[in-house]
Amino acid sequence: MRDAAPTTIYLKDYAPFGFHVESVHLTFELDPRATRVHSRIAFRPDPDVADRRFFLHGENLSLIVARIDGETVAPDITDAGLTCAVPDTPFVWEAEVQIDPAGNTALEGLYMSGGMYCTQCEAEGFRKITYYPDRPDVMSVFTVEIKGPHPVLLSNGNPQQQGEGHAIWHDPWPKPAYLFALVAGDLLAHPDSFTTCSGKPVDLNIWVRPGDEGKCAFGMEALKKSMRWDEEVYGREYDLDVFNIVAVDDFNMGAMENKGLNVFNSSAVLASPETATDANFERIEAIIAHEYFHNWTGNRITCRDWFQLCLKEGLTVYRDSQFTSDMRSAPVKRISDVIDLRARQFPEDQGPLAHPVRPESFQEINNFYTATVYEKGAEVIGMLKRLVGDAAYAEALDLYFARHDGQACTIEDWLAVFAEVTGRDLSQFKRWYSQAGTPRVHVAETWENGTYTLTFSQKTPPSAATPDPQPLVLPIDVGLLGANGDEVRATETLEMTEATQSFAFEGLAAKPVPSILRGFSAPVVLERETDAAERAFLLAHDTDAFNRWEAGRALARETLMSMATSDAAPDADYLDGMLAVLRDDGLDPAYRALMLAQPGQSELAAALAQSGSTPDPDAIWQASETLKQALAQHAQDVLPRILAGCRIEEPFRPDADQAGKRALGGAALALVTRLDSGAQAAAQYDAADNMTLQLTALSCLLSAGKGAEQLAGFYDQWKLDRLVIDKWFGLQIVQAAPDQAVGTARDLTGHADFNWQNPNRFRATLGSLSMNHAGFHTADGSGYAVLADWLIKLDPVNPQTTARMCSAFQTWKRYDAVRQDLIRAQLERIAATPDLSRDTTEMISRILG
Ligand code: ARG
Ligand code: ZN
Repeated sequence: MRDAAPTTIYLKDYAPFGFHVESVHLTFELDPRATRVHSRIAFRPDPDVADRRFFLHGENLSLIVARIDGETVAPDITDAGLTCAVPDTPFVWEAEVQIDPAGNTALEGLYMSGGMYCTQCEAEGFRKITYYPDRPDVMSVFTVEIKGPHPVLLSNGNPQQQGEGHAIWHDPWPKPAYLFALVAGDLLAHPDSFTTCSGKPVDLNIWVRPGDEGKCAFGMEALKKSMRWDEEVYGREYDLDVFNIVAVDDFNMGAMENKGLNVFNSSAVLASPETATDANFERIEAIIAHEYFHNWTGNRITCRDWFQLCLKEGLTVYRDSQFTSDMRSAPVKRISDVIDLRARQFPEDQGPLAHPVRPESFQEINNFYTATVYEKGAEVIGMLKRLVGDAAYAEALDLYFARHDGQACTIEDWLAVFAEVTGRDLSQFKRWYSQAGTPRVHVAETWENGTYTLTFSQKTPPSAATPDPQPLVLPIDVGLLGANGDEVRATETLEMTEATQSFAFEGLAAKPVPSILRGFSAPVVLERETDAAERAFLLAHDTDAFNRWEAGRALARETLMSMATSDAAPDADYLDGMLAVLRDDGLDPAYRALMLAQPGQSELAAALAQSGSTPDPDAIWQASETLKQALAQHAQDVLPRILAGCRIEEPFRPDADQAGKRALGGAALALVTRLDSGAQAAAQYDAADNMTLQLTALSCLLSAGKGAEQLAGFYDQWKLDRLVIDKWFGLQIVQAAPDQAVGTARDLTGHADFNWQNPNRFRATLGSLSMNHAGFHTADGSGYAVLADWLIKLDPVNPQTTARMCSAFQTWKRYDAVRQDLIRAQLERIAATPDLSRDTTEMISRILG
């Protein structure tokens, strides 16, 4: 069944449901092609709601029978759900429906993955399981009975009965349907236990397919650390007797916080030293924490409607970033988050897909699980905390949990606790939730009679979503340095509220060097006309770790921009600054590795476009190669010592210390490979006993145009490991030279292991092509065509993943007219595809603008 003409849903149209749901009983009789779902739901009319229309969502369901208080009824059924005449007193609704999990390739609702049953209900998947008021403000207590010939039968809450082919689960905590989950299959548990702060024991399990049980230990440790951290830092205790995590191979996103039964993309939980990189380990730790933290920020307190998605996601991303900062290095985490924000959120906020952190309309909510809602949503919370201070933040959170436990809330509820605790008027701050676009903040300075004055002007470029942006509240952290690098003024948070505003620092003996936007205290583009000498000074001396990194980043960006647009040579300040960083053994290796990394080519394209020139992907690629080569030569003498210093003799640990050394070693190896034709990379490849070293070496070889033999060996070694083979697919495409990337991607789509219906494999292949900037934007448009071909093919099978991947085209207006025409032609070709999904239709029409 195809979608009808798209309708737009508006925040302003919110209206509550006319009934309370007192309880829900579900019985599943599992069968791959014909699962029967019996529901028994107790409804009570809500006297406070005038509109008492009884509408239940339902999609792709075959209704067998429906009853009200035991009497068979004949509801009016459409593609979207049913309506039925109902009593105006409490009543029991019963329905039996039949569904087809094996035919559910969209991976939404109840579906099958590698022989197991699993569910994904957020945001609107429960309506594909049974008829229900599938909206987050309808919360109820669920009891779930599962019948099926599977050794493991799981649902939310606590187990009440577990026997052969039969289980009953009861979740005492009222929840919206999007948190429902069911899993059944031949699974093995990696078990453990946790005792909560009040002494209650909790059984923990990570459930996996046989063969994967050796990849659970790290995830389990991350779970226990998360549980302890949420008690210690937020005072949040776990609230069920069990906590189950299941690893699933076919999954559209990273993971899902279903109450007591988190379902994870296997890439977001399974890891062993041999198969997972340090980056994988860190991501797994963060995602486990994220989903666990949702138990309070999302589940106990949920969202009134999907416009409020950032209420749970922004806050939970913020919480997981705090957790990672505590477990690892806070500056390294902050820098990584900003790199990610600039790579994923800025393009969204600065292009046709721009939308506020709290959108005001949508056609398909799945299209709004975005970097803006998640990552900018988290930045907004970070700013709020900076403005009110740590103590008030903690107090406001306590009030939020106490006041709203068990409720479905809004951003207004969230801000109200801060206003109450601090007495602040947050109405201007609230614009962060309603305005799209990245503010650009320009800085000017004056120096007169011992007074140093900074004048900031903020301007958010208008967009379709926000045609007339207003000034935002910006917390701008500033410190001042003296000529010898000493801090003459410690960090202070300047609170900017006007379009243009000055801040004076008095009583200074000499003109200072400012360190502005320390810690990236607001998600803005900072514009300051300065010279390479000031950047180099901050790179050498800034006492703020973030801004010290930022100074090096700015030097790199500026030299790459002039190299890409003229025949400028690599900037000497940059090369000397990096050499000093490499030599400075007092700096954390992980931090040094981040310093050495160059801005991404897509980020450079954005910077060039913002500065008024048309980015040329080949010239950017060439500039980036030239700069890396120059750095390799400049640092030639210190590289052997760095490589030696990063060698680890102890057994592998995926912790921040070892990972940092491997990261710095990897950055050094990439440089060395440019000087020794890959000799040391080949040696590292042969000696590697963990995936980080193995993959780093392989990636160095591939980027040098070598490593064909190792690539083939890698495949043979890992052909039975799905997650490692995803890396094998992705690496070849990401590391391909610009004129090879499309051909490599095309060849790989013909490989026997290209299971295109598996989202991880599809992303590893087509997603990697879109990440090879110069390769994707190759002048003949073949990169665009290959991606479009595959999006058209995937759309009828999995609209959600198709729609997400359309965002590869979101930056199209940056490029030259020829490329724009080529991209527009592909976008129009996708748009013209018969029966295109609602998801993809919305994305393409927004991108076309
Ligand atoms: N709530 C999940 C998380 O942030 C994401 C689930 C999104 N799923 C979707 N189909 N939109 O962890
Ligand atoms: Zn989340």
